[in-house]
Amino acid sequence: MNTLLLGSKTEDIKIAADFLKDGGVVAMPTETVYGLAADALNGDAVKKIFLAKRRPMDNPLIVHISEIEDIERFNLVSDFPEKAKKLAEHFWPGPLTIIMKKSDVIPDEVSAGLPTVAIRLPSHKVARSLIKESSTVLAAPSANRSGSPSPTTAQHVLNDLSGDIEAVVDGGMCDVGVESTVITLATKTPRLLRPGLVTVEEIEEVIGHIDVDHAVLFKLESDQKVSSPGMKYKHYAPKAKVVLINGDSDSFINFVNNEYEKDNTVGAICYDEDIKHLKAKTIPIGKSDDLQAQAHLLFDALRQVDELGCFTTVYAHCPTKTGVGMALYNRLIRAASFEVFDLE
Ligand code: TXA
Ligand code: MG
Repeated sequence: MNTLLLGSKTEDIKIAADFLKDGGVVAMPTETVYGLAADALNGDAVKKIFLAKRRPMDNPLIVHISEIEDIERFNLVSDFPEKAKKLAEHFWPGPLTIIMKKSDVIPDEVSAGLPTVAIRLPSHKVARSLIKESSTVLAAPSANRSGSPSPTTAQHVLNDLSGDIEAVVDGGMCDVGVESTVITLATKTPRLLRPGLVTVEEIEEVIGHIDVDHAVLFKLESDQKVSSPGMKYKHYAPKAKVVLINGDSDSFINFVNNEYEKDNTVGAICYDEDIKHLKAKTIPIGKSDDLQAQAHLLFDALRQVDELGCFTTVYAHCPTKTGVGMALYNRLIRAASFEVFDLE
């Protein structure tokens, strides 16, 4: 299949929507990362997403809507809890995914056999016009090959999936850079399953206390039950080894410089201020106090680790686990296969 690269003008969106109406798969920009979309109410179309990504079939997908009313219009859930409505009013359109009990219209391919469905109303204008123009709702996981970092540019999508999907709608680089915050309201106490730009602290201001799933910050042991199937798969890891370094800026710099003396194939994913002090080749991800900038650049940095082709090991700062730092930590700890070196 020849993958068509589309822009984001009205006529491009019409072409993309036609592919989707015909049961095809199309990559679309969202404010978080690019998504690989198909008609969420067509099980056969949704199957093609799994094939293109080589995604395990037991990992459910997020259903993207273009306005809150789509939930009732398409009868997506069997229960729309009060707390879910509050979160939706407060954070939608935006990078928050809410899991609720599903209705019968959700195909098994979307929910992967679970009794629940994940729903998100993205804020990206192109995503919303595409959903609207398709006259349906769109199932869309991140548009990367399963296991690799989520794509934040159309080029990342093409690098992974060119030839396997009908088209990519190019909407420029994604603003947020990490995937949406995922929270389930299908449990007694709301539970965070994946951290993102919308933080625990912000959610708790709206609906009170929430639990944070153990797997958000810790490695799952093989006998542990997962609340979200995506948590059990290897994620984001470049071929070169990534190791997180826990320590202050000076000790990070000293450590990396020391390692570089011994082996000049080591590099660093680092803050802008570090660059001039480091002897090794660096991939900067923004200022040390700007967590949003770091989120914006994180996946591109992880992709560069392999694209540059010169690294065997790359050291990165271990982020704080609060606020947006929780989202960074959650992705980086997986990229590093949970390997943290403690300098403190
Ligand atoms: O920002 C995002 O959320 C992007 C853009 C494209 O919207 N999408 C995205 O989708 O990151 P994906 O499939 O890569 O990640 C969705 C995560 C997976 O870990 C999946 O296991 C979990 O959400 N998930 C989806 N439906 C679920 C459900 N019913 N119960 C528990 N976890 C669910
Ligand atoms: Mg993904």
